[in-house]
Amino acid sequence: MSSLIGNDGILPEPIGAVGMSGGTRFVRACLKRPVDRPPVWFLRQAGRYMAEYREVRKHHTLVEICKRPEIAAEVTITAAEKLGVDAAIIFADLLLPLEPMGLDFEFVAGEGPMVHHPLRTVEQIDRLRTDRAGELEYVAKAIEKVAGHFGDQMGMIGFCGAPFTLASYMIEGGSSRNYIFTKQMMYSEPAAWQKLLDKLVTVLVAYCKQQVDAGADVIQIFDSWVGSLSVEDYRDYCLPVTTRLVRAVQELGVPVIYFGVDTASLLPAMRETGADVVGLDWRTPLDEGWKSLGYSCAVQGNLDPITLFAPEPILETRVKQVLAQAAGRAGHIFNLGHGIVPGTPVENVQAVVKMVKAFSPLYAQKLPVVGGGEIPRG
Ligand code: CP3
Repeated sequence: MSSLIGNDGILPEPIGAVGMSGGTRFVRACLKRPVDRPPVWFLRQAGRYMAEYREVRKHHTLVEICKRPEIAAEVTITAAEKLGVDAAIIFADLLLPLEPMGLDFEFVAGEGPMVHHPLRTVEQIDRLRTDRAGELEYVAKAIEKVAGHFGDQMGMIGFCGAPFTLASYMIEGGSSRNYIFTKQMMYSEPAAWQKLLDKLVTVLVAYCKQQVDAGADVIQIFDSWVGSLSVEDYRDYCLPVTTRLVRAVQELGVPVIYFGVDTASLLPAMRETGADVVGLDWRTPLDEGWKSLGYSCAVQGNLDPITLFAPEPILETRVKQVLAQAAGRAGHIFNLGHGIVPGTPVENVQAVVKMVKAFSPLYAQKLPVVGGGEIPRG
């Protein structure tokens, strides 16, 4: 387990001390332990909105950047330093594990990811490989470089896709509106569906282990498109296997952040995965979302990413509202409700970091910790 956490229940530094490192602050908040102020980082904090990234993209494709650890590390470090955040998420992509499983894909400009031979038959699922996760070591190598650069000054986040969201890309062949092929497979071929999710979990656990061994302090599991499911379908077709993935990653010795979009109705079921942190999208007010999780885990979020286009006074009001809803409870990680979009003014993202640092004392410790500070495991 990370050395950033400190002894159980005893802060390594007094609350409010100048100098709690970003890494310590971030990992402790994931575990719902008291911190001097909420840590802050952003989904998609390295990306096309940032001039430095666009410059690197002029010379390399997205996949090239991911596969060259020195470039992926540089992109990760530049973004985190430029923003002054408490955590860095490794520059990689959700779809990378598809390749060693035997599915080729590419990113088509303006259209997003495209899988060349989407999974539509049981035979295709049978042929998927689970023994080549070692080919993804380039991500771990990049993590090693970033973790070595920052030490405990910055939390190091590794990540992977959740089984449902990855399966949806494999079956649809790309982004989707209605997930017809995915749900058809789920309903009509339940054994094949289960086999696909099991194979994904095998690969993802190996992939996360590489990332943790390389220095990831926390793993975020992106279930970006899980909000397309009804609660019943989520429970029947996804919850058990997602729970298995969450527990297996926790057994590697790191906290897990579980994130999805459009999840208001799914939150109580998502909590049952046992994830240490649940990421909230911006459509649910943070306090309502946390309440529907029983305040029993940490939460991450949840400013609307498009607020970053608003004039400063409005941005300030919205940042204060998120902080007010968190109300100084232990276990809030300030973030957006989904990723930063291209065209976002960088200075507004930097301004939010400054606001979180400046305003969080106004809301600090207004409420006692509700629901206890420890997350039961097992
Ligand atoms: O700092 C960071 O967070 C960047 C690292 C990162 C990328 N992808 C790089 C990327 C992360 C964490 C991801 C995860 C990812 N990839 C998700 C989950 C996050 C979410 O937004 O819910 C998903 C769904 C994907 C799949 C994916 N990758 C899509 C749908 C797209 C196209 C989006 C678009 O706007 O074109 C990508 C491409 C991608 N991955 C880009 C980046 C910076 C932009 C394209 C580029 O640079 O050419």
